Amino acid sequence: MDIVLFSKDAGIAQITINRPDKMNALNRAVLAELDCCFQQALGDPEVYGVVLTGAGDRAFVAGADISEFAHYTAAEARALSTFGQELFRRIEESPKPVVAAVHGFALGGGCELAMACHFRIATCAARFGQPEVSLGVVPGYGGTQRLVQLVGKAKALEMLCTSDPIDAAEAHRLGLANHVVEEQAELLPRAQALLQRMFLRGSQAVAGCIELVNDFFRADRDGFALEADYFGRLFETDEFREGVDAFMEKRKPNFRHKP
Ligand code: COA
Repeated sequence: MDIVLFSKDAGIAQITINRPDKMNALNRAVLAELDCCFQQALGDPEVYGVVLTGAGDRAFVAGADISEFAHYTAAEARALSTFGQELFRRIEESPKPVVAAVHGFALGGGCELAMACHFRIATCAARFGQPEVSLGVVPGYGGTQRLVQLVGKAKALEMLCTSDPIDAAEAHRLGLANHVVEEQAELLPRAQALLQRMFLRGSQAVAGCIELVNDFFRADRDGFALEADYFGRLFETDEFREGVDAFMEKRKPNFRHKP
Protein backbone atom coordinates (compact mmCIF):
# COMPACT_ATOMS: atom_id res chain seq x y z
CA MET A 1 0.00 0.00 0.00
CA ASP A 2 1.30 3.48 -0.85
CA ILE A 3 1.80 5.27 2.43
CA VAL A 4 1.46 8.68 0.80
CA LEU A 5 -0.85 9.21 -2.17
CA PHE A 6 -0.40 11.85 -4.86
CA SER A 7 -2.99 13.02 -7.36
CA LYS A 8 -3.62 16.21 -9.29
CA ASP A 9 -6.63 17.89 -10.77
CA ALA A 10 -7.42 21.41 -11.97
CA GLY A 11 -4.04 22.79 -10.89
CA ILE A 12 -4.21 21.28 -7.39
CA ALA A 13 -1.99 18.46 -6.14
CA GLN A 14 -3.60 16.41 -3.40
CA ILE A 15 -1.19 14.68 -1.06
CA THR A 16 -2.79 12.16 1.30
CA ILE A 17 -0.99 10.46 4.18
CA ASN A 18 -2.28 6.93 3.98
CA ARG A 19 -1.82 4.95 7.20
CA PRO A 20 -5.36 5.14 8.55
CA ASP A 21 -4.95 2.03 10.73
CA LYS A 22 -2.14 3.88 12.56
CA MET A 23 -3.93 7.23 12.62
CA ASN A 24 -1.57 8.34 9.80
CA ALA A 25 1.33 8.49 12.26
CA LEU A 26 4.51 9.86 10.71
CA ASN A 27 7.23 7.27 10.49
CA ARG A 28 10.45 7.80 8.51
CA ALA A 29 9.00 6.20 5.41
CA VAL A 30 6.02 8.59 5.47
CA LEU A 31 8.30 11.59 5.93
CA ALA A 32 10.48 10.49 3.00
CA GLU A 33 7.44 9.90 0.77
CA LEU A 34 5.94 13.21 1.82
CA ASP A 35 9.17 14.90 0.79
CA CYS A 36 9.05 13.21 -2.65
CA CYS A 37 5.40 14.18 -3.16
CA PHE A 38 6.06 17.83 -2.29
CA GLN A 39 9.04 17.92 -4.63
CA GLN A 40 6.83 16.45 -7.35
CA ALA A 41 4.17 19.10 -6.73
CA LEU A 42 6.65 21.96 -6.63
CA GLY A 43 8.41 20.78 -9.80
CA ASP A 44 5.20 20.31 -11.79
CA PRO A 45 4.28 23.41 -13.82
CA GLU A 46 0.66 22.22 -13.97
CA VAL A 47 0.39 22.36 -10.17
CA TYR A 48 -0.44 25.76 -8.64
CA GLY A 49 -1.21 24.72 -5.09
CA VAL A 50 -1.33 21.74 -2.73
CA VAL A 51 -3.93 20.23 -0.41
CA LEU A 52 -2.47 17.99 2.28
CA THR A 53 -4.74 15.63 4.17
CA GLY A 54 -4.91 12.28 6.00
CA ALA A 55 -6.70 9.13 4.86
CA GLY A 56 -9.72 7.78 6.75
CA ASP A 57 -12.12 9.56 9.03
CA ARG A 58 -10.29 9.48 12.37
CA ALA A 59 -7.12 11.49 11.98
CA PHE A 60 -5.24 14.01 9.91
CA VAL A 61 -2.06 12.75 11.62
CA ALA A 62 -1.86 11.55 15.26
CA GLY A 63 1.80 12.44 15.59
CA ALA A 64 5.23 11.03 14.99
CA ASP A 65 5.27 7.23 15.08
CA ILE A 66 5.97 6.56 18.75
CA SER A 67 6.74 2.87 18.15
CA GLU A 68 9.53 3.82 15.75
CA PHE A 69 11.46 6.16 18.02
CA ALA A 70 10.74 4.46 21.36
CA HIS A 71 14.31 3.13 21.70
CA TYR A 72 16.25 5.88 19.95
CA THR A 73 19.45 7.25 21.44
CA ALA A 74 19.81 11.00 21.98
CA ALA A 75 21.80 11.32 18.74
CA GLU A 76 19.21 9.36 16.74
CA ALA A 77 16.37 11.43 18.18
CA ARG A 78 18.19 14.68 17.38
CA ALA A 79 18.76 13.51 13.81
CA LEU A 80 15.06 12.61 13.45
CA SER A 81 14.05 16.03 14.72
CA THR A 82 16.39 17.77 12.29
CA PHE A 83 15.14 15.62 9.40
CA GLY A 84 11.51 16.46 10.18
CA GLN A 85 12.22 20.14 10.79
CA GLU A 86 13.98 20.47 7.44
CA LEU A 87 11.09 18.82 5.60
CA PHE A 88 8.51 20.99 7.36
CA ARG A 89 10.61 24.09 6.60
CA ARG A 90 10.57 23.15 2.90
CA ILE A 91 6.77 22.88 3.04
CA GLU A 92 6.52 26.26 4.79
CA GLU A 93 8.79 27.81 2.16
CA SER A 94 6.84 26.38 -0.77
CA PRO A 95 6.14 29.20 -3.24
CA LYS A 96 2.91 27.39 -4.13
CA PRO A 97 0.23 27.74 -1.45
CA VAL A 98 -0.32 24.67 0.74
CA VAL A 99 -3.59 24.01 2.62
CA ALA A 100 -3.87 21.39 5.36
CA ALA A 101 -7.32 19.77 5.33
CA VAL A 102 -7.69 18.55 8.91
CA HIS A 103 -10.27 16.13 10.26
CA GLY A 104 -10.04 14.19 13.52
CA PHE A 105 -6.75 14.25 15.38
CA ALA A 106 -3.91 16.60 14.48
CA LEU A 107 -1.62 15.79 17.37
CA GLY A 108 2.10 16.20 17.94
CA GLY A 109 3.83 15.93 14.57
CA GLY A 110 0.36 16.14 12.97
CA CYS A 111 -0.30 19.54 14.51
CA GLU A 112 3.25 20.56 13.57
CA LEU A 113 2.72 19.42 9.99
CA ALA A 114 -0.57 21.33 9.74
CA MET A 115 1.18 24.42 11.13
CA ALA A 116 3.94 24.16 8.53
CA CYS A 117 1.25 24.50 5.85
CA HIS A 118 0.17 28.04 4.94
CA PHE A 119 -3.54 27.52 5.72
CA ARG A 120 -5.60 25.10 7.78
CA ILE A 121 -9.22 24.11 7.09
CA ALA A 122 -10.71 21.90 9.81
CA THR A 123 -13.88 19.93 10.39
CA CYS A 124 -15.88 20.49 13.58
CA ALA A 125 -14.53 17.17 14.86
CA ALA A 126 -10.87 18.18 14.47
CA ARG A 127 -8.65 18.22 17.55
CA PHE A 128 -5.32 20.04 17.62
CA GLY A 129 -2.74 19.39 20.29
CA GLN A 130 0.89 18.95 21.24
CA PRO A 131 0.82 16.06 23.73
CA GLU A 132 4.58 15.43 23.78
CA VAL A 133 5.01 16.29 27.46
CA SER A 134 2.77 13.28 28.19
CA LEU A 135 5.60 11.21 26.72
CA GLY A 136 8.20 13.17 28.67
CA VAL A 137 9.55 15.01 25.66
CA VAL A 138 9.12 18.32 23.80
CA PRO A 139 7.82 18.67 20.23
CA GLY A 140 10.55 17.98 17.68
CA TYR A 141 9.20 19.21 14.34
CA GLY A 142 8.98 22.93 15.07
CA GLY A 143 5.93 22.87 17.35
CA THR A 144 7.40 25.08 20.06
CA GLN A 145 8.15 27.73 17.44
CA ARG A 146 5.18 27.70 15.05
CA LEU A 147 2.54 27.30 17.76
CA VAL A 148 3.76 30.53 19.38
CA GLN A 149 3.71 32.26 16.00
CA LEU A 150 0.10 31.20 15.38
CA VAL A 151 -1.63 31.38 18.77
CA GLY A 152 0.66 33.54 20.92
CA LYS A 153 2.89 32.73 23.89
CA ALA A 154 0.32 32.24 26.65
CA LYS A 155 -1.95 29.83 24.80
CA ALA A 156 1.00 28.02 23.19
CA LEU A 157 2.59 27.44 26.59
CA GLU A 158 -0.73 26.20 27.99
CA MET A 159 -1.22 23.74 25.13
CA LEU A 160 2.41 22.59 25.26
CA CYS A 161 2.68 22.26 29.03
CA THR A 162 -0.71 20.64 29.71
CA SER A 163 -0.72 18.49 26.53
CA ASP A 164 -4.50 19.12 26.38
CA PRO A 165 -5.88 19.31 22.83
CA ILE A 166 -8.20 22.07 21.64
CA ASP A 167 -11.29 21.62 19.51
CA ALA A 168 -11.90 23.12 16.09
CA ALA A 169 -13.94 26.06 17.40
CA GLU A 170 -11.12 27.11 19.70
CA ALA A 171 -8.53 26.55 16.98
CA HIS A 172 -10.57 28.87 14.78
CA ARG A 173 -10.94 31.46 17.52
CA LEU A 174 -7.18 31.40 18.15
CA GLY A 175 -6.32 31.72 14.46
CA LEU A 176 -4.87 28.23 14.19
CA ALA A 177 -7.64 27.12 11.81
CA ASN A 178 -8.52 29.51 8.98
CA HIS A 179 -11.97 28.01 8.47
CA VAL A 180 -14.12 25.27 9.99
CA VAL A 181 -16.63 23.11 8.09
CA GLU A 182 -19.40 20.94 9.53
CA GLU A 183 -18.85 17.69 7.65
CA GLN A 184 -15.80 15.85 6.37
CA ALA A 185 -17.40 15.80 2.89
CA GLU A 186 -17.07 19.60 2.79
CA LEU A 187 -13.41 19.60 3.76
CA LEU A 188 -11.58 19.04 0.48
CA PRO A 189 -13.97 21.19 -1.58
CA ARG A 190 -13.44 24.04 0.91
CA ALA A 191 -9.65 23.65 0.75
CA GLN A 192 -9.76 23.53 -3.04
CA ALA A 193 -12.00 26.60 -3.18
CA LEU A 194 -9.52 28.56 -1.07
CA LEU A 195 -6.72 27.67 -3.49
CA GLN A 196 -8.87 28.48 -6.53
CA ARG A 197 -9.25 32.03 -5.18
CA MET A 198 -5.47 32.36 -5.20
CA PHE A 199 -5.14 30.92 -8.70
CA LEU A 200 -7.02 33.97 -9.98
CA ARG A 201 -4.20 36.20 -8.66
CA GLY A 202 -0.64 36.73 -9.80
CA SER A 203 1.26 33.55 -8.87
CA GLN A 204 4.57 35.37 -8.36
CA ALA A 205 2.84 37.87 -6.10
CA VAL A 206 1.24 35.05 -4.09
CA ALA A 207 4.67 33.39 -3.78
CA GLY A 208 6.07 36.74 -2.68
CA CYS A 209 3.48 37.11 0.07
CA ILE A 210 4.34 33.63 1.38
CA GLU A 211 8.07 34.33 1.34
CA LEU A 212 7.78 37.77 2.93
CA VAL A 213 5.40 36.65 5.69
CA ASN A 214 7.82 33.82 6.47
CA ASP A 215 10.60 36.43 6.60
CA PHE A 216 8.74 38.21 9.41
CA PHE A 217 9.56 35.26 11.66
CA ARG A 218 13.24 35.07 10.71
CA ALA A 219 15.42 37.13 13.04
CA ASP A 220 18.16 37.30 10.40
CA ARG A 221 15.90 38.91 7.78
CA ASP A 222 14.97 42.57 7.30
CA GLY A 223 11.38 42.09 6.19
CA PHE A 224 10.79 45.69 5.16
CA ALA A 225 13.90 45.80 2.95
CA LEU A 226 13.01 42.41 1.43
CA GLU A 227 9.47 43.62 0.76
CA ALA A 228 10.77 46.68 -1.10
CA ASP A 229 13.07 44.43 -3.18
CA TYR A 230 10.25 42.04 -4.01
CA PHE A 231 7.88 44.90 -4.81
CA GLY A 232 10.44 46.32 -7.23
CA ARG A 233 11.20 42.99 -8.89
CA LEU A 234 7.55 42.27 -9.61
CA PHE A 235 7.25 45.52 -11.59
CA GLU A 236 9.20 43.85 -14.40
CA THR A 237 7.00 40.77 -14.65
CA ASP A 238 4.33 39.95 -17.24
CA GLU A 239 1.94 39.27 -14.39
CA PHE A 240 2.24 42.81 -13.07
CA ARG A 241 1.80 44.23 -16.58
CA GLU A 242 -1.33 42.12 -17.05
CA GLY A 243 -2.71 43.03 -13.62
CA VAL A 244 -2.26 46.76 -14.21
CA ASP A 245 -3.46 46.65 -17.83
CA ALA A 246 -6.58 44.75 -16.72
CA PHE A 247 -7.32 47.37 -14.07
CA MET A 248 -6.89 50.23 -16.56
CA GLU A 249 -9.04 48.47 -19.14
CA LYS A 250 -11.71 47.68 -16.51
CA ARG A 251 -11.54 43.92 -17.07
CA LYS A 252 -10.48 40.90 -15.00
CA PRO A 253 -6.79 40.03 -15.28
CA ASN A 254 -5.97 36.87 -17.18
CA PHE A 255 -2.85 35.59 -15.50
CA ARG A 256 -1.13 32.88 -17.50
CA HIS A 257 -1.01 30.46 -14.61
CA LYS A 258 -4.80 30.14 -14.58
CA PRO A 259 -5.55 26.36 -14.80
N1 COA B 1 2.42 6.59 16.83
C1 COA B 1 2.26 5.29 16.55
N2 COA B 1 1.07 4.69 16.50
C2 COA B 1 -0.02 5.44 16.76
C3 COA B 1 0.07 6.80 17.04
C4 COA B 1 1.37 7.39 17.09
N3 COA B 1 1.55 8.69 17.32
N4 COA B 1 -1.17 7.30 17.27
C5 COA B 1 -2.00 6.26 17.10
N5 COA B 1 -1.32 5.13 16.78
C6 COA B 1 -1.85 3.78 16.52
C7 COA B 1 -2.20 3.06 17.82
O1 COA B 1 -1.04 2.47 18.39
C8 COA B 1 -3.18 2.04 17.31
O2 COA B 1 -2.48 1.01 16.66
P1 COA B 1 -2.89 -0.54 16.96
O3 COA B 1 -4.31 -0.64 16.50
O4 COA B 1 -1.94 -1.33 16.12
O5 COA B 1 -2.76 -0.75 18.43
C9 COA B 1 -3.94 2.81 16.23
O6 COA B 1 -3.09 3.88 15.83
C10 COA B 1 -5.25 3.39 16.70
O7 COA B 1 -4.98 4.19 17.84
P2 COA B 1 -5.73 3.98 19.25
O8 COA B 1 -4.86 4.56 20.31
O9 COA B 1 -6.14 2.56 19.40
O10 COA B 1 -7.03 4.87 19.00
P3 COA B 1 -7.82 5.68 20.12
O11 COA B 1 -9.06 6.19 19.43
O12 COA B 1 -8.01 4.90 21.35
O13 COA B 1 -6.88 6.97 20.47
C11 COA B 1 -5.40 8.79 19.99
C12 COA B 1 -6.54 7.89 19.47
C13 COA B 1 -4.94 9.65 18.82
C14 COA B 1 -5.93 9.68 21.10
C15 COA B 1 -4.26 7.92 20.52
O14 COA B 1 -3.90 6.99 19.52
C16 COA B 1 -3.02 8.68 20.88
O15 COA B 1 -2.97 9.30 21.94
N6 COA B 1 -1.98 8.67 20.02
C17 COA B 1 -0.72 9.27 20.30
C18 COA B 1 -0.80 10.77 20.17
C19 COA B 1 0.53 11.38 20.52
O16 COA B 1 1.00 11.32 21.64
N7 COA B 1 1.16 12.01 19.52
C20 COA B 1 2.41 12.67 19.69
C21 COA B 1 3.52 11.75 19.39
S1 COA B 1 5.09 12.57 19.61
